[in-house]
Amino acid sequence: MPLVSMKPMLAAALEGRYAVAAFNPVDYASMRAAVEAAVAEQAPVILQTSAKTVKYHGHQALASWARHLGEQAAVPVALHLDHGKDLELIRRCIETGWTSVMIDASDKPFEENLALTRRVLDMAVPKNVGVEAEIGEIGGVEEDIIVAAAAAHLCDPNQAAAFCKMLPELAVFAPACGTAHGYYKGEPKVAFDLLTDIAMRTGLPLALHGGTGLPDETVRRCIASGCAKVNISTNLKHVFIDGFCDYHRDHPHDYEPLNLIRAQHEAMVAMCREKIRLCGGAGKCQAQGPAAGGATPPPNYLTPPSHD
Ligand code: 13P
Repeated sequence: MPLVSMKPMLAAALEGRYAVAAFNPVDYASMRAAVEAAVAEQAPVILQTSAKTVKYHGHQALASWARHLGEQAAVPVALHLDHGKDLELIRRCIETGWTSVMIDASDKPFEENLALTRRVLDMAVPKNVGVEAEIGEIGGVEEDIIVAAAAAHLCDPNQAAAFCKMLPELAVFAPACGTAHGYYKGEPKVAFDLLTDIAMRTGLPLALHGGTGLPDETVRRCIASGCAKVNISTNLKHVFIDGFCDYHRDHPHDYEPLNLIRAQHEAMVAMCREKIRLCGGAGKCQAQGPAAGGATPPPNYLTPPSHD
């Protein structure tokens, strides 16, 4: 099916008390693995690209790979820009076929964050493209964005409530809640009560950043507290590299590249399937019909974003 907007996808997840796994692929192979995992689990999935990945491959290549994979899949697939900071890059994503974008102005003062998010909503909403915004600062390293532990701070729930009230078209809201990008050095201290408070006061699905290395029980509690999108980046990067290297270590004389990339693919699919199941997304888009070619997403999935 055509790529879908993240907004109805996450509204359905929030209502169904599960989360959609959002993976950060770095190329066609990792995109394909995430979609294949979603198809195998009959779950919706989000492919989210960092700005660094967009700059590396270019908008057209990434959009055409995602579109092709989405069209082959019998489950809803969204193409999302993760941590967009540059309005021009965001505009090009919207024009080229991304079905949702994140404006990350969380390092700016509240009023500036609000104004920038308003500008992105004005570009995105007429094209049925979903928007994610953030308040607070999530620690750790996410590609080119480095937030030192001392600079990281939690989302203020009063600001979150005011922000989302003024921007009711948001598809998803990302509150910094104690998680961090990359592997955790100690036990992460997640502010579950803060998540619950923000979810209740905003009424929006929440995005959980820093999904790599979180204990399973923590992920489940975050979902129960209102998170409907769980971001997994570092984990996929590690499996991408380890899946390849492990095969070569175990078969040092095998110089058939397809054998290496098959092993890498299987490792990525297995990891993505596990995360989709952890998020409770498995079976949410049951295939129907003799060829199982038609999934049954909620009807509101079926309005593709317009990119004219
Ligand atoms: P991890 O790298 O910890 O999986 O975090 C991903 C993320 O939140 C991307 O925005």
